[in-house]
Amino acid sequence: MKDLPKTPVTSRRGRRGFELEPHVLNDTSGIIDFLRTRRSAEPAQITGPGPDDGQLELLLEIAARTPDHGKMEPWRFIVIRGRAKDEFAAFAKNRWQELNAGEPLGKKALYDLIEKAPLIIVVVSRAVDHPKVPAWEQRLSAGAACMNMLTAATAMGLAMQWRSGWPAEDEKTFRYLGLTENETIAGLMFTGSLDPSAPRSDRRRPFWRDLTTFWQPDEA
Ligand SMILES: Cc1cc2nc3c(=O)[nH]c(=O)nc-3n(C[C@H](O)[C@H](O)[C@H](O)COP(=O)(O)O)c2cc1C
Repeated sequence: MKDLPKTPVTSRRGRRGFELEPHVLNDTSGIIDFLRTRRSAEPAQITGPGPDDGQLELLLEIAARTPDHGKMEPWRFIVIRGRAKDEFAAFAKNRWQELNAGEPLGKKALYDLIEKAPLIIVVVSRAVDHPKVPAWEQRLSAGAACMNMLTAATAMGLAMQWRSGWPAEDEKTFRYLGLTENETIAGLMFTGSLDPSAPRSDRRRPFWRDLTTFWQPDEA
């Protein structure tokens, strides 16, 4: 496996790690190279246009091919674009202000990103009671659906960022988007094109050795 150019970095809390050089990020020449260099888009990099219908269908097809214990399909997708997205942005602005009286519409409000990103795919987790498949496994599968979608979008050269934030915890937003009783939001996938003028950089990545032990049975 070839060495990748990287800079060691330590976080403010003292966690060791590294960042890859920006020019090697998202190397799509091979699947393994791509996975080693994969990097989400930051909000500043997301611009128009959004994916075309063919790209959108491909993203959804790939996300619907996620590992799923018991073939339960514990996820579904809501695409928000065009005028529907304008409506959602207006709703989000009002709802944020209702929840955070007096606070300015800053980054946490997500309003800027909802307005700016050409398209949002809401990945809905729908876990139900099942004798063999616990609800947490079903939720893991919804997370995996988000990850598959993110990987596919990035490999297609699109810009995508996986966000949760306040809308993913707000019952009123759930009802507004048509979620039912057992449904929650696993991810708001903000999607668009990559703005080539926006700077890109890696974020600190942990060294896998710091996270891994090779288990041995206790000899005692
Ligand atoms: C479930 C989930 C929710 C996230 N929500 C947010 C969020 O609300 N705000 C944020 O800045 N990043 C959030 N992130 C982090 C970004 O999506 C992303 O992990 C980060 O920008 C680095 O991405 P990369 O490792 O793909 O480069 C979330 C990630 C996950 C997995």
